[in-house]
Amino acid sequence: MPKNTIYSCTNCGAQYPKWQGRCQECGQWGGLTEEIEPSQNTTKRLPAKKPVDFKNINLSPESRLKTTLQEWDQVLGGGLVAGSVVLLGGDPGIGKSTLALQLASQIKKTLYISGEESASQIKMRAQRLATDLNQLQFLNETDVDIICSSLEKIHPPLAIIDSIQTIRNPETPMGSASQITAATAKLVEIAKKTNIPIIIIGHVTKEGVVAGPKTIEHLVDTVLYFETDNQHHYRLLRSIKNRFGPTGEIGLFEMTGQGLKEITNASQAFWQKTEQKKIGIIPSIVMEGSRAFIVEIQALTAKTSFGYPQRKAIGFDQNRLQMIIAVLAKTAKINLANQDIYLNVAGGMKIKETAIDLAVALAVTSSLYDLPWSQDQLALGEIGLAGEIRPVSQADKRIKEASKNGFNKIIINNTKQNSAIISIQHIKESLTLLKQK
Ligand code: TYD
Ligand code: MG
Repeated sequence: MPKNTIYSCTNCGAQYPKWQGRCQECGQWGGLTEEIEPSQNTTKRLPAKKPVDFKNINLSPESRLKTTLQEWDQVLGGGLVAGSVVLLGGDPGIGKSTLALQLASQIKKTLYISGEESASQIKMRAQRLATDLNQLQFLNETDVDIICSSLEKIHPPLAIIDSIQTIRNPETPMGSASQITAATAKLVEIAKKTNIPIIIIGHVTKEGVVAGPKTIEHLVDTVLYFETDNQHHYRLLRSIKNRFGPTGEIGLFEMTGQGLKEITNASQAFWQKTEQKKIGIIPSIVMEGSRAFIVEIQALTAKTSFGYPQRKAIGFDQNRLQMIIAVLAKTAKINLANQDIYLNVAGGMKIKETAIDLAVALAVTSSLYDLPWSQDQLALGEIGLAGEIRPVSQADKRIKEASKNGFNKIIINNTKQNSAIISIQHIKESLTLLKQK
């Protein structure tokens, strides 16, 4: 029987019946290699397997590895699960190795596998972190098969791979997407077999998707991304996928001279209490996962001196700002057609939630008419096209956070009995509140 030859791209895996110089999918030159296509007529019939009854499955108690880094444990849903594989992704230099080392210092006999840095470089960093790393084991290795057999032999309580981009797999071409996928698959298999939790560090590459951590998200149990805010003050650890806990959770850290420091009171990171009234500044509350925190919405309006009016938003969707401006004009007769508008979320947060719409509308109006806003009042609500204020999700959590931080008035569409709540249904009612002295 004739064997079918196919040509597949070493970079993206696209397949072609004929050789060609350039891959049409990813654009790489000279990357096509010849392969023999597995014949379709040789399928063997294998013996059937018996399924198990669900009622006969015994659940073993889930064992989780806890640390004193509460933010980390919380993002994972209560600590690392035995045998789970966590992908820790992020831009180079964001602090992935630092976080991994801080975790390693908490769990005795952790195995730190690095193909990127030498033992002395890691030790130098550890000294900077002032952590006790006498119990840490180090392996300078890049071959995934050697790593897997070492893991089986040493059987550490936790293994850290820094980073997946430096790990080689003998069967796949160096630096390709298939190499990262194949190496990760082997690591996942060994984690399940030995019950060792593994943290895999992955750099987000400039090109993004191809050889980056995105390609292995589907293989691992948990995907965490380390991000920073606009001003690089804070580090946000965000869970994108989690087989053992809720997703969307965030952990908050600050990079200091002695490594990463946890920020347990998120509200105070982005907002400061003040007694004064302010123009164009309205506090509101956003949710990140199950956490609520206070943010300060700032707006400035200035008469347009030339051409079209400017609309600039930092940390908020510009299109949504345009919509709110249109709603203000149509339903509340607030004319902003000759005003430049600048909107800013203080503290560098990027907000995707609609729950701060009302605060945006109030901040713009406050700035336009020079009406001061008492900073012990907070506004929450999504604005509809008819100017109606819609209820927000997880209102109870937000109200609780507001009360905890000493807000006397919460302006929201909510009928719950609470002395601090001022329930409103339409944007016009909120503007009356703004005009009250
Ligand atoms: P690193 O963990 O090496 O980043 P990654 O592994 O994600 O590439 O951290 C890099 C940055 O953090 C580097 O610019 C130095 C800084 N840093 C501190 O500010 N304080 C510290 O204690 C440490 C260890 C690093
Ligand atoms: Mg690193």
